[in-house]
Amino acid sequence: MALISVILLLLAALHHSDGALHFASYYGDHMVLQKAPHRAVLWGYGPEGEQVTVYLLGPFLQKVSSAPVTEGIWQVTLDPVHAGGPYDVYAVSESSMCHLADVLFGDIWLCGGQSNMYFNTSQIFNASEELALASKYPHVRPFMAALKASKTELIDLIQVEIPWSVPTTSVVAEFSAVCWLFGRYMYEKLKYPIGLVESCWGGTPVEAWSSPRALKRCGLLHNEDNSMLNKTILWNAMIHPFLNMTIYGAIWYQGEANAEFNRDKYNCSFPAMINDWRMAFHRGSGGQTAPDFPFGFVQLSTNRNVSTDDGFPDIRWHQTADVGYVPNSRMENTFMAVALDLPDKASPYGTIHPRDKQDVALRLTLGARAVAYGEKDVSFQGPFPKQILPLKTSINITYDQAVSVKASKNMFEVCCPEKNVSCESKSIWCPAAILAWNQTSIQLFSASCPPSKVAALRYAWADWPCEFKACPVYDASGNLPAPPFITNRYAGNQNIWRST
Ligand SMILES: *[C@@H]1O[C@H](CO)[C@@H](O)[C@H](O)[C@H]1NC(C)=O
Ligand SMILES: *[C@@H]1O[C@H](CO)[C@@H](O)[C@H](O)[C@H]1NC(C)=O
Ligand SMILES: *[C@@H]1O[C@H](CO)[C@@H](O)[C@H](O)[C@H]1NC(C)=O
Ligand SMILES: *[C@@H]1O[C@H](CO)[C@@H](O)[C@H](O)[C@H]1NC(C)=O
Ligand SMILES: *[C@@H]1O[C@H](CO)[C@@H](O)[C@H](O)[C@H]1NC(C)=O
Ligand SMILES: *[C@@H]1O[C@H](CO)[C@@H](O)[C@H](O)[C@H]1NC(C)=O
Ligand SMILES: *[C@@H]1O[C@H](CO)[C@@H](O)[C@H](O)[C@H]1NC(C)=O
Ligand SMILES: *[C@@H]1O[C@H](CO)[C@@H](O)[C@H](O)[C@H]1NC(C)=O
Ligand SMILES: *[C@@H]1O[C@H](CO)[C@@H](O)[C@H](O)[C@H]1NC(C)=O
Repeated sequence: MALISVILLLLAALHHSDGALHFASYYGDHMVLQKAPHRAVLWGYGPEGEQVTVYLLGPFLQKVSSAPVTEGIWQVTLDPVHAGGPYDVYAVSESSMCHLADVLFGDIWLCGGQSNMYFNTSQIFNASEELALASKYPHVRPFMAALKASKTELIDLIQVEIPWSVPTTSVVAEFSAVCWLFGRYMYEKLKYPIGLVESCWGGTPVEAWSSPRALKRCGLLHNEDNSMLNKTILWNAMIHPFLNMTIYGAIWYQGEANAEFNRDKYNCSFPAMINDWRMAFHRGSGGQTAPDFPFGFVQLSTNRNVSTDDGFPDIRWHQTADVGYVPNSRMENTFMAVALDLPDKASPYGTIHPRDKQDVALRLTLGARAVAYGEKDVSFQGPFPKQILPLKTSINITYDQAVSVKASKNMFEVCCPEKNVSCESKSIWCPAAILAWNQTSIQLFSASCPPSKVAALRYAWADWPCEFKACPVYDASGNLPAPPFITNRYAGNQNIWRST
């Protein structure tokens, strides 16, 4: 340690920091680098042909050298470093050096999406209490990319909005509430540093965050070079630059913008984006970011209390690749926070921006604990039907877990078409009232549609299905809402239908 310090001090004395050697934009003082067993990747710019040596000085010491700087860029992959810190990171070449101070090792989560992810902590319920807590979490470190677009894939950010920071009231006030609260709640559980990278933009469709590869997979891009470029501009400027950094996982709050834009493709475009990001981050980090890194997302909350179909129910369903819950075989290693029971009629930011982000983040945290960290016995999914049994005059639904139930006349709906065809959002649906229930099942009755004629059943299929935390079906604790579902007797996921 002493020797390295002496060398560094000598170097620092000999050379001005002339900027010849520097880190990429998203490496900075106070940052979090991905901890062991992953290996953090560091890169930057330097004088052509020179070798760069990175020294890590802190609780543990490390020295790694790069290949000669090529096309102005150097890169090193550190040996695995356990959670903790602080470290000083020096990058030293023959002619100059640069330095990062107060670097911690922990887990890095990328936070993406549209305005509900962008929604900052000063806008939520209890904002002043949340902001007052910010400085109590010095090991949860925010970073935010500026809102920028590009027609070509960039290797670095155009601009940084919030540099890596030790959280203060003012930093957290302008930072994503969902991202911050998720990081803070995860920290409470993990007790080691969490790095949060916010990269999101209001009003944006999933296509803007997707690579041409992912769009092609869903038939959304026929000609890679021109007409559909708007669909990739944020991928180019706000995601692609991060591919070289090692990350642990991502959380995502988006979909509102797709309720009226390529809605019917979302069941392909969303899973395709997730899998493409995974492949690209894995490759960009030289294999350090897991090829199946955990991906959590918020199922759409509410927008308008209307009876007409505005696309929200379809998007919620498509967010699960039309399965109803995650993880599933089309969306492995994912987790979802159901949010349709958290409407906010009085939100000054518009009803599409509900202010209760605490429950959203809490539900995401449960999913992350179970799926991303493999914690056993964490309940993170609301009840889902295991079996549907049409009886003589009623229909019995058996759930995969114990339920707590509130009576409802219309939250369940049945469809009885003339023929045995499948029903969709546009079909004619009739309300089915909850007649009775026990610990694990619910009995439904519809006056206008006899069970023998029922071809499909759906639940909570409305933009705004219930008032705040007042949907009919929750888990036994009453905290996790049942996600919406649609099931056809003669098509799709009909295997849960039974006959007497
Ligand atoms: C939070 O977001 C709102 C809406 O975008 C904005 O007006 C406000 O200035 C932001 N607050 C901070 C502290 O950045
Ligand atoms: C791309 O965005 C620009 C500016 O928002 C718009 O004028 C143009 O029509 C868009 N192109 C496509 C193909 O959507
Ligand atoms: C996606 O949804 C559309 C429209 O609802 C449907 O026609 C299509 O079969 C679904 N595709 C997949 C892959 O689930
Ligand atoms: C970053 O990752 C990309 C692959 O996505 C790779 O082509 C590029 O060389 C990497 N850049 C650096 C500086 O490592
Ligand atoms: C939503 O609409 C229903 C039916 O029109 C009404 O009964 C309910 O009170 C409305 N809820 C809110 C929060 O406005
Ligand atoms: C806001 O604080 C009050 C009082 O502590 C609490 O009852 C309420 O649940 C909080 N709201 C949210 C969304 O966390
Ligand atoms: C629909 O299917 C059910 C069971 O598969 C059968 O009993 C019934 O006759 C069919 N109805 C029509 C109209 O095809
Ligand atoms: C249907 O559900 C009701 C209420 O939970 C229960 O009492 C009844 O026994 C069930 N019927 C069958 C055939 O499972
Ligand atoms: C609830 O009702 C179902 C039939 O719908 C039955 O199979 C189950 O045993 C009942 N459970 C309890 C705890 O009574």
